[in-house]
Amino acid sequence: MILVTGATGTIGRALVEELRSHGAGPVRALTRDAARASFPEGVETVRGDLADAGSVKPALEGVRSLFFIPGLGEPGSDAEVLGAAREAGVEHVVLVSSITVRTHPHLGPAARHAAGEQLLQDSGMAWTVLRPTQFASNALWWAASIRERNPVRVAYPDVGLPTIHPADIASVARAALTDTRHRGRTYALTGPERVTARQQVAALSAALGREVAVAGIGREEAQREMAAYLGDEVADAVLDVTGGDVNEELLRVRDTVAQVTGSPARPFHRWAAENAAAFR
Ligand SMILES: NC(=O)c1ccc[n+]([C@@H]2O[C@H](COP(=O)([O-])OP(=O)(O)OC[C@H]3O[C@@H](n4cnc5c(N)ncnc54)[C@H](OP(=O)(O)O)[C@@H]3O)[C@@H](O)[C@H]2O)c1
Repeated sequence: MILVTGATGTIGRALVEELRSHGAGPVRALTRDAARASFPEGVETVRGDLADAGSVKPALEGVRSLFFIPGLGEPGSDAEVLGAAREAGVEHVVLVSSITVRTHPHLGPAARHAAGEQLLQDSGMAWTVLRPTQFASNALWWAASIRERNPVRVAYPDVGLPTIHPADIASVARAALTDTRHRGRTYALTGPERVTARQQVAALSAALGREVAVAGIGREEAQREMAAYLGDEVADAVLDVTGGDVNEELLRVRDTVAQVTGSPARPFHRWAAENAAAFR
C-alpha cells in the first residue's frame, strides 16, 4: 500500500493519477475533507490532518511507502507523523523538499526544508528526497489578473528559471515509490529549459489566443503585494529566488527527470496549454 499525503494538491493529485495509471498497486489518498475530495476509481480516500499525528494513524495501517509533504501541519507535527509512520511499519518515505536547500540555504523556507530532510534521514526509514525548483503552476498567481484582462505584474520579468511541470515531480515520485533503486537518493529536479516570466506569459497568451501584457514592477512594490498573502519572510525569499538573488546552481537545467523517469521533462508551454481554462 502506498499512502499519498497532500493528495488533493498540485503534486499529489498528479501522483495519485500516475500511480493508478501505472498499476502501482493499492493507493490511499489522504485529505482533511474526504467529502470534498474526489479521486480516480480504485483509490482509497482516507481522512487525516497532518497537524494531528493521531488522526493519521489509521491511514498508515498496512502502508509500505509514503509520499510526504512536510510543513503542512503544526511545528513539531512532522516528527510525530514520521514517528507514527515508523511505528506503523512504513519502510520508505519520498519527501518533497526544495532546490533552495542547496542554492539558498540561508533563507528561512530553505532551512525549514533542510530540517524536514534531516528529520526523515534520522527516522530509521529508507528515504528519497525530491528537491524541485519553481513549479510551472506558480503561474496561477497571475490567474485573477489575466482573467480580469489586467497586465501581469512581476518584479523580474526577464530572469529565466528552469521551471518544472508538477506532473514531472509526480512522475519522479512514482518512480521513487515503486523502485527500490531510488532509496537513499536526493534528486534536484528542474524543467527542460529556462523560461522567463515574460516567456511564460507569452505561452499563456498563445494558449488563450489573446495577448496578455506584462508590467515590470519594483521589488518593494512586489514585496508589499506578495507579503499580504505570503507574509514578509516568504515574500522576500520568493523574490530572491525568482530574480533578486539567483545563482548558477538555481539557474542550471538538470536532466534528472529524464534520468529517473525515462521521459524528457515537460516544457512550460505544455503546462500553459493544459491549464489555460484557469486563466479564461
Ligand atoms: N511552488 C513551488 O515553486 C515550490 C518549489 C519547491 C518546493 N515546493 C514545495 O512543495 C510543497 C507543496 O507541494 P504542492 O504544491 O503539491 O502542495 P499543495 O498544492 O499546496 O497541496 C497541499 C495539499 O495538502 C493538504 N493539506 C494542507 N494542510 C494539511 C494538513 N494539515 N493535513 C493534511 N493535509 C493537508 C491539502 O489537501 P486537503 O485540503 O485535501 O487536506 C492540499 O491539497 C511545499 O512543501 C513547497 O515548499 C514548492
